[in-house]
Amino acid sequence: MSFQTRWSSPSNIAIIKYWGKFGRQFPCNPSISFTLNKSKSIFEVSVLESNSLAVNYTFENENNDKFKARIEKILKAWCDFEPEIATLSFNISSSNTFPHSSGIASSASSMSALALATLDILYQKKNLDIDREFYKKASFLARLASGSASRSVYGEFNLWGETELMNNSSNEEAIPISFHENFKHIQDSILIVSSDEKEISSSLGHELMNSNYFAQTRFDQARENTRDLLNALETGDFDHFGTIAEAEARSLHALMLTSEPWFFLLKENSLNIMAKVREYRQKTQRPLYFTIDAGPNIHLIYPPDNEIKSFIDSELIQYTENNKIIHDEIGLGPEKLS
Ligand code: PMV
Repeated sequence: MSFQTRWSSPSNIAIIKYWGKFGRQFPCNPSISFTLNKSKSIFEVSVLESNSLAVNYTFENENNDKFKARIEKILKAWCDFEPEIATLSFNISSSNTFPHSSGIASSASSMSALALATLDILYQKKNLDIDREFYKKASFLARLASGSASRSVYGEFNLWGETELMNNSSNEEAIPISFHENFKHIQDSILIVSSDEKEISSSLGHELMNSNYFAQTRFDQARENTRDLLNALETGDFDHFGTIAEAEARSLHALMLTSEPWFFLLKENSLNIMAKVREYRQKTQRPLYFTIDAGPNIHLIYPPDNEIKSFIDSELIQYTENNKIIHDEIGLGPEKLS
């Protein structure tokens, strides 16, 4: 028997950052993100029954040995939880809606898409319907591939990691969380400062937290910020939300500087944008804030506002690489395409 499916799954941007893990991909602190709308990966997967696990893979219609090796490793790891995977021969092709090496991390979108498509195949084999349990399991599998991918299985706002503040929160998988309508159309304009390959992988970054002098303080800070962010999400306080987002981004990059060996991913133009955003906010009182992942690119977070958008397009574009800005926004999550 053969089975096939096609899924698109978006990237997400963390407001409370996951940085530091233990055991088998458990986070040292809870994280909160919102799912994006345009920045997606598309995975087409077909399988045949076989004696052993086999993988054929193309990325944007070309062979890609690096991605193929990663996918093979993940499918093998998933066999511990879904042993049927070991009896399938996979044909996988994937692509991204954002340009390759645009500086947008694709692990959240690609690993969540792979988890959804693989699980869909297992569900088809067992004649099961896609239900709530399906998404819970997909988030669990995605987490094993890339922690942040666990949060891309659902749209809008999601939390991953155990916290006494939220019933059902878990280190094993992400859960969707409710939020005030002030965040319903939140924007994320991504300013590409550099599209160079990352100097270090996020797995090494997580590992370095095991010996970071400030680790415990950081995990405590993330817990406090989680409480405050949940509060802002409930009351609709955009300025409080943005203040926490910026504090989290600055902490993340400070942790990199204080690791041993240390590293620093921001570029001069990342710092220029951060300064300009603060200056603009002070001058205009408009709610424009930044957040940053493990790289030099700056995510600008704001409610829909044409004034802010034209400030970004006219004043901040000069700090980007080849005028690269991706105007994205909150999205509704993955889709089964066929
Ligand atoms: O999912 P990973 O292992 O690539 O780690 C992601 C880490 C950050 O993007 C910096 C923060 C986060 O929570 O997404």
